[in-house]
Amino acid sequence: MIRIIEVGPRDGLQNERQPIATEVKANFINSLVEAGLSEVEVTSFVSPKWVPQLGDALELVSMLPAGPDYSALVPNEKGLERALQTGLDRIAVFTAASDEFTKRNINMTIEESLEAFRPVIERFRAERKNGFVRGYVSTIVECPYAGLIEPKRVAQVVDSLFTLGVDEVSLGETIGVAVPSEIRALIGELTNWPKSRIVWHFHDTRGTAIANVASAMEAGYLAFDSSAAGLGGCPYAQGAGGNMATEDLVYFAERCGVATGVNLEKLAKASLPVLTRLGKPVTAKAQLAALAASSEAP
Ligand code: HMG
Ligand code: MG
Repeated sequence: MIRIIEVGPRDGLQNERQPIATEVKANFINSLVEAGLSEVEVTSFVSPKWVPQLGDALELVSMLPAGPDYSALVPNEKGLERALQTGLDRIAVFTAASDEFTKRNINMTIEESLEAFRPVIERFRAERKNGFVRGYVSTIVECPYAGLIEPKRVAQVVDSLFTLGVDEVSLGETIGVAVPSEIRALIGELTNWPKSRIVWHFHDTRGTAIANVASAMEAGYLAFDSSAAGLGGCPYAQGAGGNMATEDLVYFAERCGVATGVNLEKLAKASLPVLTRLGKPVTAKAQLAALAASSEAP
């Protein structure tokens, strides 16, 4: 069995200018859960000036039925203040392996971001006894501003996040350039922490995400972020196209004989109302195939 952390409602929508009604987002999340996804990153408590699409975070979380493991991004104490007004017991702090990227994404250097996360994590732990904290590292292979990133640099940031007290680290291949040999080179540097505490967050900008999943799975990693319909990308990484589609990941894993707990047909339909509102066609391959098989091709 692999863990799939569905990030579509957050990572998939954060980049979209066309406002999506909060109710549509809540229905999207409910459909994803009904399809079998039990971990969903639902929104961000970031500045609405930076990411207007997710300005309805408080309202959205209040609309979600209890049960699944929902999480949200929190960049600073101000964001935590809002997150704590909800029942969420999972948050994610986020930095990168490149200062050039973090400055554009969160207006801080990597060091400044780690310092900003310290009081966030401490207070969250004090307020939520069963709280779970994820730390993201973006630009793990290449940064759109700084170029290629040394695997050793990524491993240093991973160490810093674990030392700060996060429960898991998600490794973001933000611009979707990587191939398996680069992922294997990075894996070679990630020796300080158990594989069960690392999640891979691949983008499929150039069609290499599933090849990278295969190399991570072969190396013994069993947790992946993905986004229904391949929605999304990062607003502060030009050219970062879609995230890896959850449909592609589910198809690949199940066909390899690895269970996901997700019903592909239900999943393939879950994002259709959102795609319609965004005026976007279905492009994820396994989603297209699943819809065709259920005779609901768009
Ligand atoms: P800043 O402008 O440096 O912050 O932004 P500031 O402290 O100077 O505050 C500026 C204004 O924002 C103030 O309001 C604050 O009150 C307000 P004003 O006085 O002007 O009216 N503010 C906030 N409001 C609501 N919630 C908050 C908050 N913080 C400040 N939390 C900041 C710094 C971090 C806030 C900003 O840069 C930001 O929100 N960045 C978020 C960018 C983002 O969400 N990026 C996408 C997520 S990362 C990603 O997608 C990559 C990932 O998927 C993995 C991968 O693929 O690599 C995770
Ligand atoms: Mg992403």
